[in-house]
Amino acid sequence: ISMLRRVDAYLEEYQTQKSRMKETFPDLSFARSTNNDSIGVDERLFEKPQLPALNKAALEKILRQRSLQMRDQQQAWQESAEGRRMLEFRRSLPAYKEKEAILSTILRNQVVIISGQTGCGKTTQLPQFILECEIESLQGAACNIICTQPRRISAISVSERVALERGEKLGESVGYKVRLEGIKGRDTRLLFCTTGILLRRLIADRKLKDVTHIIVDEIHERGMNEDFLLIVLKDLLPRRPEMKLILMSATLDAELFSSYFNGAAIIKIPGFTHPVRTCFLEDVLELSGYRLTPDNQIDDYGQERIWKMNKQAPRKRKSQIASVVEDSLREADFKDYDPQTRESLSCWNPDCMGFNFIEYILCHICEDERPGAVLVFMIGWDDISALKEKLLLHPLLGDQSRVLLLICHGSMASSEQRLIFEEPEDGVRKIVLATNIAETSITINDVVFVLDCGKEKESSYDALNNTPCLLPTWISKVSAQQRRGRAGRVQPGECYHLYPRCVYDAFAEYQLPEILRTPLQSLCLQIKSLKLGPISEFLSKALQSPEILAVQNAIEYLKIIGAFDDNENLTLLGHYLTMFPMEPKLGKMLILGAIFNCLDPILTVTASLSVRDPFLAPLDQKDVAAAAKSQFSHDYSDHLALVRAYDGWKDAEIDLAGQEYCWANFLSSQSMKAIDALRMEFLSLLKDIGIVDSNATNCNAWSYDVHLIRAVIFYGLYPGICSIVHKEKSFSLKTMEDGKVHLHLNSVNARESKIPYPWLVFNEKIKVNSVFLRDSTAVSDSVVLLFGGKISKDGDGQLKMLGGYLEFLMKPAVAEMFQSIRRKLDDIIQSKL
Ligand code: CDP
Ligand code: MG
Repeated sequence: ISMLRRVDAYLEEYQTQKSRMKETFPDLSFARSTNNDSIGVDERLFEKPQLPALNKAALEKILRQRSLQMRDQQQAWQESAEGRRMLEFRRSLPAYKEKEAILSTILRNQVVIISGQTGCGKTTQLPQFILECEIESLQGAACNIICTQPRRISAISVSERVALERGEKLGESVGYKVRLEGIKGRDTRLLFCTTGILLRRLIADRKLKDVTHIIVDEIHERGMNEDFLLIVLKDLLPRRPEMKLILMSATLDAELFSSYFNGAAIIKIPGFTHPVRTCFLEDVLELSGYRLTPDNQIDDYGQERIWKMNKQAPRKRKSQIASVVEDSLREADFKDYDPQTRESLSCWNPDCMGFNFIEYILCHICEDERPGAVLVFMIGWDDISALKEKLLLHPLLGDQSRVLLLICHGSMASSEQRLIFEEPEDGVRKIVLATNIAETSITINDVVFVLDCGKEKESSYDALNNTPCLLPTWISKVSAQQRRGRAGRVQPGECYHLYPRCVYDAFAEYQLPEILRTPLQSLCLQIKSLKLGPISEFLSKALQSPEILAVQNAIEYLKIIGAFDDNENLTLLGHYLTMFPMEPKLGKMLILGAIFNCLDPILTVTASLSVRDPFLAPLDQKDVAAAAKSQFSHDYSDHLALVRAYDGWKDAEIDLAGQEYCWANFLSSQSMKAIDALRMEFLSLLKDIGIVDSNATNCNAWSYDVHLIRAVIFYGLYPGICSIVHKEKSFSLKTMEDGKVHLHLNSVNARESKIPYPWLVFNEKIKVNSVFLRDSTAVSDSVVLLFGGKISKDGDGQLKMLGGYLEFLMKPAVAEMFQSIRRKLDDIIQSKL
């Protein structure tokens, strides 16, 4: 009976839905754009050199003329005073000493692997050697060198550096291209781009026709894109015998890559670094006159000893550091750590070590140590920004006339980055709070002191439960060494590891490659769009192949969302999704937003889900921030809260008050700007694909409470749904795979005591101890029924809904009705595609 009641409720809902649909779409037809077959994306990313269609001789003449020009320009720069100074600097780099050997090895081999210590000049010099050599031999206009970087920030900063070293502006012979940004001119012959950009180019240009050299940088990081690119390139090389492939790596597992490419040539650039004095936690303690006893208690054995590095250290300071460390140890539960068994590292947790300790060491460096910049390795943006806020309040560290406090993070704006490389004024100490990005990709020249918290944020993937995780994890030994090495670039340095040596000893040697620890959906989609054959077979050719279960999960997911048909072939929807440089679910949401003419809020939702959460929650103002956020949350939806916040910001921007708006509402104005830029990018992608009806883009967009926007969000995020189990005064949440799940504290729904909907749809769930949903939007049954997965009949002839997610008995008549609305919806979507 209760089941039937529910069905009746559906019926009612359906009736209102239907009349609403009718109101919203008086005629269910949509104008088709004319340029349906234009793909646009890739052509725009990589324009081919625009040479006029001339005969071969004339073409060669032009090429030769340009090559001559390029040579003359290069020579003029090298002979200028400025150019000579630059050359002198370049000659001092270890890589420069190997220039001839490198060039001749590349000439003789199709694949070359180059390894050398970070900072020895691989990234900035190698591509330049090749370019210079080509220009000198009058091949300048014909060569086309692409150097990939795992991160946008390094692609940009390296291209700027190389242009500077060549005495040019960006966009002359050197350019860069990352998502959303790029500078590339007619004569650009050396392009730094993210690995993702090159992969996208491969979709349109599978043989990389005009490319003469591909340089894949930072392969030791074993990022998923790089591993993927290597499989594709390995396949392509025999068909492009004249194309050269150069792989560059910081650490020394060159042999692994060499054997992958059938014994490719290896060049090791001998490195040079100054000695770095290393302190682990116990050493820091000892310096302050304390020590760890064998059972990890702090023993004040050194009362009469003085703080070695500062002979005048007042007594107060000494007891301060002891209490700081003691607090940290207590909070970290370090006392339970058993160095003998080394069973688990989890008892030592720098997250809760408190920033006091870091603050203390920074103070010590600023007051007592010789000049030199400080690099602090933190976990991620959250703790970097929290630490920065804390330090700014400190009388010494927050004093801008004495300390220049900067942050270095993968998603920072390029203008901000430049500051990191600049030398501060005399007497000012530069302190950079960084993520692991400063380990290898970015070299800050004047670093002398390094603080290493020992952790990084690592994405991992639990294939068994099909759950992605993003957790602070211990770095590997290699990373710790890398971090330490950053202190010894220009002179002898100091490194403070903020954990005991026994913890270091328990670190893994290397980090697991990304392909083994991330969901593979986008990768599988890419494999199909590049027509690389059956997915499992293709992935078995990787350096290290992912788990079969992980591959199956990804394929299953793509089938559920309708990107693959039952035979793993791309559907029309899947084909469109490959054109979007974002997760398939966001692409799907955008497409539906366009089809149902409610694009504006959906652009905001998809853009915000692609950037860092714009809602800030500073540790010491959590409640005020939460209150500010709650003004946006009338809809039981984090996604709609984002839309409201963005719309408010956009209005404020008109009055030039965007910044104040952000301050008042605890929003990151940087994220807002990024969202703004991404919205434009997404819109132009949709327009290129020809899916936007420009007369009616937003005719259904302006009322947030309509089911429609929820439905579109749902359509994208499905099958990420969980059911709400209502109780008397509270509710609990359940998903099929995980059982009980929780809401992240920052979610607007976490503060509700009741949610008047039966379902939540989410973008991201993260396993920490239990599973948390980061963001969610509440939706009704009807939305789930209309926009969920397929309806099918199981063996007993019973209707199964939502790809088996929800099995539901329905009256045949009701089921029939839903089926027919769904068919109509599908028709609408298909006809629009
Ligand atoms: O790639 P690898 O780590 O081997 O070194 P690189 O990035 O090519 O940097 C070589 C040297 O160029 C660094 O040691 C810095 O001294 C300098 N450099 C710089 O001054 N400014 C940059 N933006 C990049 C590098
Ligand atoms: Mg490099």
